[in-house]
Amino acid sequence: MKLIGPFKQIVTLSNLPLRGKLSDEQLQIIADGGIVVDDGKILDVGNFDALKSRHENIEIETIEGEQIVLPGFVDAHTHICFGGNRANDFAMRNAGKTYLEIAESGGGIWSSVQHTRNASQEELLKTLVERIGFLVSLGITTIEIKSGYGLDVENELKMLRIIKKAQDHTTARLVPTCLSAHLKPRDFEGSNKEYLEYILTEILPKVKEEKLADRVDIFIEKSAFQPEESKDFLLKTTDLGFDITVHADQFTPGSSRIAVEVGAKSADHLEATVDEDIEFLAQSDTVATALPGASLGLGEKFTPARKLLDAGAILAIASDWNPGSAPMGNLITQASILATFEKLTTAEVLAGITFRAAYALGLEDIGKLEQGKKADFVTFKTNNFQNVLYNQGSLSAENVYIGGNLIK
Ligand code: NIG
Ligand code: FE
Repeated sequence: MKLIGPFKQIVTLSNLPLRGKLSDEQLQIIADGGIVVDDGKILDVGNFDALKSRHENIEIETIEGEQIVLPGFVDAHTHICFGGNRANDFAMRNAGKTYLEIAESGGGIWSSVQHTRNASQEELLKTLVERIGFLVSLGITTIEIKSGYGLDVENELKMLRIIKKAQDHTTARLVPTCLSAHLKPRDFEGSNKEYLEYILTEILPKVKEEKLADRVDIFIEKSAFQPEESKDFLLKTTDLGFDITVHADQFTPGSSRIAVEVGAKSADHLEATVDEDIEFLAQSDTVATALPGASLGLGEKFTPARKLLDAGAILAIASDWNPGSAPMGNLITQASILATFEKLTTAEVLAGITFRAAYALGLEDIGKLEQGKKADFVTFKTNNFQNVLYNQGSLSAENVYIGGNLIK
């Protein structure tokens, strides 16, 4: 057992509701606070001196200088296991080339599939662990990671096994997701429907058997999988016992509705979601995950985060870090920018990258600084927590704790 502190401010996020809009007055901020950690969990949070007298002879881990502390951040949507690089796609897109022209000149998702298939396991693991290291350096302590650049049995399992192996190289909490339904690969002979059947019969049983992932994702879009075939597929994955998340409404609306209908944990993207579907999402337990990194990478509009919150949805914000549409990877910068365009309060942004994002992953024991939660938190050298978003990512995290252990 130990007491960590004193912190100038502890922003606990305690008492904040799971859904809907939040005002900054609702934030619980403990001045001159401390956190008591026992066995990886939070035992007590409060005034530092009071905690010191309450827990006699407790070991103290002293925090030097003025620092504030927030719950460890959660990035609930990434594609950070990949080979190669798509800088040329980015340049071509900005030079006015269309999606089709980029794909025809060897870019697009298919190019990442080829690079990932061709990469050695060592290379994939090394770059994945480096990207995890970057996210942790930002204060992100839980990271969802998708497959989806393998797109056949051998390579999807290769990706998922590497994601599993990465857990041996980090104490960050990794949450793998099977995204074999990212796109029908060019070398698959058969229809979309047949490819989805192939995932159900050839890939997912092995994913289950080897315990590689509990979650399944699909990209529902004109250029990927169609609504009806996707719905059938998703319902069958539920029968197999998987949780569901969906790439929904990125360019065309309609698929967030399917996500809700099949009971998905989250519907992610939503840049093109129409008003009536915002209402539908808001009345469900499906988390609406905004991915501002994809809007910034593609030069597309942002997810209507303000409208979603006002309607009462559970809004999370994630990076979507991937080699194509979202190459930046800095969730704090992206969330801060989303806040300026969508007029989100500090409380809404912080909730979106902590406990609301955790809920999208089915994790309810992280994301708030309160008794019983895992002791995952991040500190910043400042006397005012508002500076974290105000600096739009340029104020670096000072210390990162996972399960009460200082890891940065
Ligand atoms: O979330 N929208 C589909 N999938 C990814 C992009 C992946 C890629 O371009 O490699 C996304 O934006
Ligand atoms: Fe994505």
